[in-house]
Amino acid sequence: MFGKKKDIPQIDKDQLELIQNAQKRIKQKKRLYIHFVVFLIGSVFLILFNLGLGFGENFTPLDTNWFVFAILFWLFLFLYHAFNVFITHKFMGKDWEQQQLNKLVAKQQARIEKLKQELPEDASLLKKKAINPATNLTIIVAAAENDAIGKHNKLIWHISDDLKRFKALTSGHHIIMGRKTFESFPKPLPNRTHVVITRNTNYQVPEGVILVHTLEDAIKASASDPQPFVIGGGEIYKQAILVADKIELTRVHASFPADTFFPKVDTSIWKETNSVFHKKDDKNEFDFTFLTYERK
Ligand SMILES: NC(=O)c1ccc[n+]([C@@H]2O[C@H](COP(=O)([O-])OP(=O)(O)OC[C@H]3O[C@@H](n4cnc5c(N)ncnc54)[C@H](OP(=O)(O)O)[C@@H]3O)[C@@H](O)[C@H]2O)c1
Repeated sequence: MFGKKKDIPQIDKDQLELIQNAQKRIKQKKRLYIHFVVFLIGSVFLILFNLGLGFGENFTPLDTNWFVFAILFWLFLFLYHAFNVFITHKFMGKDWEQQQLNKLVAKQQARIEKLKQELPEDASLLKKKAINPATNLTIIVAAAENDAIGKHNKLIWHISDDLKRFKALTSGHHIIMGRKTFESFPKPLPNRTHVVITRNTNYQVPEGVILVHTLEDAIKASASDPQPFVIGGGEIYKQAILVADKIELTRVHASFPADTFFPKVDTSIWKETNSVFHKKDDKNEFDFTFLTYERK
């Protein structure tokens, strides 16, 4: 009762005009129909008056009963009415329809422009990719069946073979990561160039770690590397999947509660080029598959 005033749904001004016009047309046609019925009944009455009751029976201009002229005159009025409804107003309606169409097109164009402006930096990243098509930007990730990748800034499982593969693939390369993933390591990983993304301009990193403030700058900072890796986490994967060329995914065959997820791999964009299944064992807690996807 004392809460926020409810928003009254606002109908679009053009839609309102459209509805009002449709209502007007219905009314016009209804009136024409009533006119037609009254004309028929009225004509019968005029005939009855003249021939049945003998009203004005001596009035016979051109040797014809007066009801004939009365009915013809009424018929003329009715046809004029019908002409107005089906011809005059119809043409007016076409103009109006065209106006509506123009308004709608203008509205949609304005919307498209607005959406273009709202596009995040992904668009500029795509442009950058067009400028530097030689990039072999690779995402490396381990994700569960439900796409879970982490909880409380930690990994959820221990799969020794996955860690070995991560080490083998990324050693000697640039590894691009979000600030939170960087902080999840006890110390920087050996034999790799760390590129850390943060919006914090005062963020301090150990010597040798490259600090950047956008994914685009992270890719630029890795330009000398023939295969830079994006190693997470969730926020960075979400942005990088739009511009990456390859995904090295370890699919862990189980589902977990989590707070961080990998985006869905859209198979209309990504083609699976390799798949190797491994059964769980002493060193690997779950069954898993090493999958490679390449951009189509
Ligand atoms: N399973 C796997 O393979 C895998 C791999 C890596 C990580 N993980 C897990 O993922 C989780 C961490 O992921 P997360 O999504 O929470 O964090 P994250 O992606 O590692 O880092 C997020 C941070 O990156 C910075 N950032 C993101 N987008 C940015 C942009 N466009 N420009 C500038 N800075 C930007 C921000 O830092 P500031 O707040 O400092 O501005 C943001 O808070 C952890 O649980 C980790 O264990 C899993």
